Amino acid sequence: TSAFERALESLRAGEPILVHDAADREGETDLIYHADAVTPEAVARLRNDAGGLVCVALGHEVAEAFDLPFYSEAVDHPATDDHELGYDERSSFSLTVNHRDTYTGITDDDRSTTIRALGAAAATPDETDFATEFRVPGHVHLLKGAPDLLAQREGHTELGLALADAAGRSPAVVVCEMLDDETREALTPADARAYADRHGFAYLEGSEVLERCR
Ligand code: 5RP
Ligand code: CA
Ligand code: ZN
Ligand code: ZN
Repeated sequence: TSAFERALESLRAGEPILVHDAADREGETDLIYHADAVTPEAVARLRNDAGGLVCVALGHEVAEAFDLPFYSEAVDHPATDDHELGYDERSSFSLTVNHRDTYTGITDDDRSTTIRALGAAAATPDETDFATEFRVPGHVHLLKGAPDLLAQREGHTELGLALADAAGRSPAVVVCEMLDDETREALTPADARAYADRHGFAYLEGSEVLERCR
């Protein structure tokens, strides 16, 4: 089986995968799980082994159903007027959330509660009253997928959502950047691949995802 097939199987089985976007984009590798599978242990792996920002990417239609805007459009502040990025047209950031059954929202238990509930909400948006279930602001960053997904944007947001779709799962994935504790930079693709091999996780290049999903 190809790495691509193995990655889909992992997402279905609740295991993490690693996806490097592209050397000429962020040049980052994110650790990614389907949101449904995120246990407290998975949150611990995200913050200890990945170390970046723990975010949940939601599909565009689901985010619209929940009235979730892009952050830069929602907040009227001079710093959002020109949100220029070095590597893309725009950020995919939306709001931050906590599930209402959490206390502070940051513990492994609390974040896994929020993340799994987001997975369930994305599977049944029509039965979800978002504001009844979640509070804003919170400790999980939401990302909103581009309307036409990989045809419009090639970020981890869209790569992860495209993989969830290919795996036959709802449009909700957790992503977190792999950082290097020694260099304090993004983990290199070679080191990210070595981490994946050590743990038996699938590693994909963004280009492989684009070939198979776009
Ligand atoms: C949020 C980010 C990450 O890079 C994440 O992968 C989502 O962003 P993008 O879709 O632009 O890759 O910056 O922590
Ligand atoms: Ca670490
Ligand atoms: Zn990214
Ligand atoms: Zn990033």
